[in-house]
Amino acid sequence: MEKINYEKAPIKNLINKDNHLRIMSEFLERKKDPVVLEFGVERGSSTKVFTWLAEQINGNIYSIDISDCSQVISSKSWHFFQSDDLKIENILERFPEIKNRGVDMIYIDSYHENHHVQKLLNLWFKYVKKEGAIFIDDVDSYKFRKKKDIWNSIVYDLTDEAIKSFYYSNIEKTFYTRYYGENGLAKLLKYSDLLDEPNQINKLWNYNIFIKILYPYLRKISKIFK
Ligand SMILES: C[S@@+](CC[C@H](N)C(=O)[O-])C[C@H]1O[C@@H](n2cnc3c(N)ncnc32)[C@H](O)[C@@H]1O
Repeated sequence: MEKINYEKAPIKNLINKDNHLRIMSEFLERKKDPVVLEFGVERGSSTKVFTWLAEQINGNIYSIDISDCSQVISSKSWHFFQSDDLKIENILERFPEIKNRGVDMIYIDSYHENHHVQKLLNLWFKYVKKEGAIFIDDVDSYKFRKKKDIWNSIVYDLTDEAIKSFYYSNIEKTFYTRYYGENGLAKLLKYSDLLDEPNQINKLWNYNIFIKILYPYLRKISKIFK
């Protein structure tokens, strides 16, 4: 297989070395005739990168957005459907290839809210092929915490927790990698077969938050008595 030359990409400013779109592109580039399902198009930064790559490696990009983004690009490799991404039956009816063949990669960048992301993971995991992956954007609150923006910090942290809960409930079926930089990117690599359903999400036991606050003092006290 010929190596992809990212320097020659007309959208090369979007895929600088080590940025998140580049990380996903390099994952995709190793797949044969890859199929991508993308949630959230807007002005199409991710769509343009995935489609540029798909044109070279015989891939197909299926993009969903609740708004009409059909004019973002034009390519034989790109297929757009205006829909809520939770409406799985409508999407599978429109794109039967996803149901019949499965997908190599899902990119979640639509409604950034923990319950929505967790619902998407539960609904769509089944259609990811073995060794395929689900990438989720915007999982690190660092930039908002720097600005002391409480609400966005909470939203991002809750999304991060929702993904971790999904992973911990599916630890034998997935491998979780987290990338920092930009607004954080999560990757859930799927170990199980196409059509394998995810496990139900179980809340993992956690310690009491007040004990965590008291911990440094308790440690000091315990040293005094040693
Ligand atoms: C952050 S933007 C996507 C950015 C895009 N991936 C990029 O790289 O340029 C989020 C998009 O998700 C769409 N969206 C929000 N809620 C949605 C839903 N429930 N289903 C599908 N799309 C949704 C919005 O209309 C918006 O265009």
